Amino acid sequence: MKTEANTTVLRKDFTPVAWLVPKVDLIADLVPDLTTVTCTQQLRRNSPKMLGGRTVDSDLVFNGDPDLSLISIELNGVALSKDLYEVSTHKLAIRSAAFTELDSFTLKTVTSSNPSKNSALNGLYLSGGNFFTQCEAEGFRRITWFQDRPDVMSEYHVELRANQASFPVLLSNGNLVSKGQLADGRHFAKWHDPYLKPCYLFAMVAGTLEVNEKTITRPDGSEALLQVWVKPGNLDRTHHALQSLEASINWDRQRFGLELDLDRFMIVAVDDFNMGAMENKGLNIFNSAYVFASPELATDTDYDNIEAIVGHEYFHNWTGNRVTCRDWFQLTLKEGLTVFRDQEFSSDMAAASCQTEAEAQSARAVNRIKDVTTLRRVQFVEDAGPMAHPIRPEAYQDIDNFYTATVYEKGAEVIRMMQTLLGRDGFKKGMDLYFERHDGQAVTCDDFIAAMADANQFNLNQFTRWYHQAHTPKIEFSWEHLGNTLALHCKQIITPSQEPFHIPILVGIVDSSVDAHGQNNQLFELTETQQTFMVHGASARSLPSIARNFSAPIVVKVDWTVEQLRLLASYDGDPFNRWDALQQLATKSMLDQYYGNESAQQSIGALVQSLKQSLLDPKLSPAFKAELLNLPQEPLLAESITSFDPVRLRAARLTVLITLAHELEKHWPMLYQSNQVTGVYRPTPSDSGKRALRNSALGLWAMQGSADQTITDQYHSATNMTDRLGALNASRMAGAKTKDAVFAAFAQSYRDEVLAMDKWYLAQATSIRLAGGPSVLSQVKMIYTSNSFDRKNPNRLRSLVGAFFTGNLAEFHGGEAEGYAFWAETIGEIDSFNPQIAARLARSLDRWNNYGEPYRGLMQATLTQLAEKSDLSVSTREIISKALKVEHA
Ligand code: TRP
Ligand code: ZN
Repeated sequence: MKTEANTTVLRKDFTPVAWLVPKVDLIADLVPDLTTVTCTQQLRRNSPKMLGGRTVDSDLVFNGDPDLSLISIELNGVALSKDLYEVSTHKLAIRSAAFTELDSFTLKTVTSSNPSKNSALNGLYLSGGNFFTQCEAEGFRRITWFQDRPDVMSEYHVELRANQASFPVLLSNGNLVSKGQLADGRHFAKWHDPYLKPCYLFAMVAGTLEVNEKTITRPDGSEALLQVWVKPGNLDRTHHALQSLEASINWDRQRFGLELDLDRFMIVAVDDFNMGAMENKGLNIFNSAYVFASPELATDTDYDNIEAIVGHEYFHNWTGNRVTCRDWFQLTLKEGLTVFRDQEFSSDMAAASCQTEAEAQSARAVNRIKDVTTLRRVQFVEDAGPMAHPIRPEAYQDIDNFYTATVYEKGAEVIRMMQTLLGRDGFKKGMDLYFERHDGQAVTCDDFIAAMADANQFNLNQFTRWYHQAHTPKIEFSWEHLGNTLALHCKQIITPSQEPFHIPILVGIVDSSVDAHGQNNQLFELTETQQTFMVHGASARSLPSIARNFSAPIVVKVDWTVEQLRLLASYDGDPFNRWDALQQLATKSMLDQYYGNESAQQSIGALVQSLKQSLLDPKLSPAFKAELLNLPQEPLLAESITSFDPVRLRAARLTVLITLAHELEKHWPMLYQSNQVTGVYRPTPSDSGKRALRNSALGLWAMQGSADQTITDQYHSATNMTDRLGALNASRMAGAKTKDAVFAAFAQSYRDEVLAMDKWYLAQATSIRLAGGPSVLSQVKMIYTSNSFDRKNPNRLRSLVGAFFTGNLAEFHGGEAEGYAFWAETIGEIDSFNPQIAARLARSLDRWNNYGEPYRGLMQATLTQLAEKSDLSVSTREIISKALKVEHA
């Protein structure tokens, strides 16, 4: 565990290494409680001129970990004498006297560690009796002493040795060179990765696993082997992942001309994993939640997530692995770009499985809506809080804390804006130049921007401000009609220290008499603080449709009247903006309720009318209608409230939903009947769209109060997890008897299916307390402390306590001191065995300063109390101390 004092790493402090490591030879002797790693590295001087000559040689420092024991150390085959090196908790320093005469040398270290005690799931650890590694960002130093930074790129030869009966499968990066027997029932496998890679992409797996595999033929006629490895008994759940991998390979070839560069590409599923998945070269390791799929156990959303994450990790093979990051400040170079690529992949895949062009357009819009909903709910909130940072941060204490929605999702929006500005073809040209210049290198975001700019002769200088200016820009719009032109005035609301952004604004015209179908869009480039654009083709009655398809990660501020929003929600030809107009109407209704405004009647009436009109519109797809029913979530609503009261917001939001449920009561059974899916299960946009709409309708029907029988029937007759979970979720709004019966039946059927139980934990954690029933807090506590709940598993923790702390504001904060005591206890406990997960969960109090009393004071006291815990990890301490540093309101 990290116990070193907090040190802040600054972007401006970057210096190249003095010694490169062209080759690494690793022998891992894998024994659960005593693993030995022999690491032989070839070191070669990095350009001596740059370093000012040999006389300035300083110690050569390797990163390590207190849990690592150094057994022996040799330089060029000779044991190093004690006075030539020094081991401290996190560092191994070799005195310059040991190598000052040399241009290159070999260093061999033998270390041992106890992977069975590694509960942090970082470095080498065991899960279900099998060995796995996780090295990004800084896990390799927990395996062996190394210059653990991404600009040190090496060719790896790896030999794994282990007991053959317990660990029959031995995997590492690249190609299998040989395997064979050793004495005492042990065996070995030797692997070679021909590509240079940073150590964060190193991986090993050893254990009892089964494989689903397929051979594909590449355009040059060569064959490649695709494999999905899982623990025994799960092969029938791997089909979708393997198919998604093949689809990813085809997509990257077609869209970007990028080919699979290895003869073998492996995916391995693991139950205990801190994140979603990891793009280790040729050996992707996945959280099993993003591999396993069968209709009975996975939802339509799971199917989509698996496709997206398999794509994401595969796309990293070029954007991340072939071209990697020079330092961790450049993380968005690979993550923003790769999220953008996986979003485009998902969108193309959804469109490709549609029958008509209209359906395909709608499927793309639905994907965009889902991505933007996540961005707003998570990233906008992050950008307004104490952890706000630009997509390329300037400083960090623990880099693991910067795998954020900002680096990933806002980073993807920044890439998308480049594509919008340069066009699809221009963007592709920029990608081509990027690989032409930088294949095999560790580079910076500036290198990427330069390739885009140079390939297109396009000036991106001002655009680079997106890389160093944090916070969501708010843009105020107003307009006037000048004949057939609409003069659109724009004003960037940015902080005093910021300079105006370069923002692509896609604008269209909406007229109640003409359905513009999203045609005739005009792209404007906002670069000044204040600027006016001339939008053509308007009549005196038309409205501008601004930032269509969410053309930039901004907040569009317009003083819309309810009538104007209704018009947009009915006639905007851009599906994203049509959906967004309805979201804004819903936001207005909910805030009107919250504040008890007189306009509440009017805004809710408009919401009901608009929603009704759209739900009855035969031209809109079921999936799109389901998104319309997915009204703004509390965390986003909370951002427009000062001295926020979560209990009051819950009541206000529910009032709006229940009003809708009653006003449109005859529509729920109708939508429910007309969106039945028959036939074999297919997670296509069309079928899953119908299921989504049907289940949303069921939820509102439950709120109206007469759906109990339908819920029970659906629960028992469901033939797939989407519908079964739909019934479980809807039951939370039904009568107590129905709810209890459905929850009990689910727990009974799935008690041995951990991923299905995660859905149950999440449904529990995000429940609303029923009149006379137990508090959700007490339910969550009971589950958390029960024997059947595995507290060491990150998926379990995210589903139960993670979902409760971030997805159930009213029930969590409404518990006041008791809720916060539970928070401090859980975070403190989790921090003692898995700091990465604890730090992530601790983010759930980031917005404390935005709350009203008594919540605000209680949260501040809770954070202060946790900060006083002396053995708190560096990871969690960084989050807590940043939270406490916010300006007092
Ligand atoms: N690079 C991984 C991805 O985006 C993220 C990741 C996986 C990760 N495991 C991690 C990041 C552990 C930090 C720590 O696909
Ligand atoms: Zn990634």
